[in-house]
Amino acid sequence: MSAADSPASQGSKLPSNVRIAGTGSYLPEKILTNAELEILVETSDDWITSRTGIKERRIAAEGELTSHLAAKAAEKALEQAGIEAADVELIIVATITPDTLTPATACYVQQHLGALKSVAFDVSAACSGFLYALELARHSVGAGAFKNAVIIGAEKLSAFVNWKDRNTCVLFGDGAGAAVLVPSENGDGRILSSHLGTDGAQAELLNIPGGGAACPITIENADQNLAVLSMQGREVFKHAVNAMRRASEQAIESAGLTAADISLVIPHQANIRIIDAVVERIDIDPKDVFINVDKYGNTSAAAVAIALDEANRQGRINSGDKILLVAFGAGLTWASAVIEW
Ligand code: ACO
Repeated sequence: MSAADSPASQGSKLPSNVRIAGTGSYLPEKILTNAELEILVETSDDWITSRTGIKERRIAAEGELTSHLAAKAAEKALEQAGIEAADVELIIVATITPDTLTPATACYVQQHLGALKSVAFDVSAACSGFLYALELARHSVGAGAFKNAVIIGAEKLSAFVNWKDRNTCVLFGDGAGAAVLVPSENGDGRILSSHLGTDGAQAELLNIPGGGAACPITIENADQNLAVLSMQGREVFKHAVNAMRRASEQAIESAGLTAADISLVIPHQANIRIIDAVVERIDIDPKDVFINVDKYGNTSAAAVAIALDEANRQGRINSGDKILLVAFGAGLTWASAVIEW
């Protein structure tokens, strides 16, 4: 049984009375190129480009935290949606690089935005986190519990990368993306389906081993650099292709569509080879796939959100288009959604 066949794999069709009213993204100014990484570790632009498709990534400034990136992305999404921060009712931040273990990064974002009447909390589902947040928010808004929701994927992964480990440090970057969800009153633009899954049996493949209650950072272990990403890349790669393929097929089928109906695929941006393998298996034309992994690397929970915003602002999405979003990450977790724009 593959991970995506496991009983934890949940599909959901209803409610489809929620739409995305605005998107936004924010990338830190500092660009770290492959050439600069060649100075830090034994690697090459050629290796990184051919194995991952990544050319450069963004790195947050000192003192620039996940909550700051998140708030800047959310401000742009709210502006596009025409909603004042003071009127926001729900904020969900998806992140694995919170400002602090507690309180949630969403609490800081609430303050940065001045969204003082909102309920705010985090979800932790690694690279699938933005789509987990989308699912939670669409049920909350669709059921009428909240009039609107701001969902944000935001990461400062540069703070949790071992800059001496060439296996991981070339892959990740910082950034944030956001979307505003509101009821779809006249039937225009709807979230048609989504599909989430988890396989905790594979938790060891990709984790940050130190810094939690299982392995607090102490004076004794401080020199072991345990609060950084650790990944069995080859294994993760195989699971990613399988799970993203299955999750894509399930979301398309739940929406009552076929691959031919999908105008644009917005996949998690971890590795161009994973994206190519998934797209080939679900029979989508590569020209209908949004790619920005070359510019930002893997920004975990932020990746799909940033790509969605860039696709939206570049005019790659038109009213009535059916968009497939699909992600995969630590947990293991995977998630997909089909949206009618
Ligand atoms: N530069 C040069 N050589 C390198 C580098 C580097 N930066 N990194 C690894 N290598 C070497 C390895 O040491 C290995 O050498 P060896 O054969 O002598 O042992 C060789 O390159 C091949 O290593 P592989 O791990 O087999 O390389 P692979 O082609 O699998 O690519 C990669 C590695 C890019 C990590 C790939 O496996 C991958 O993308 N995995 C999935 C990552 C992912 O999708 N993560 C998603 C979620 S992330 C999240 O949730 C936070």
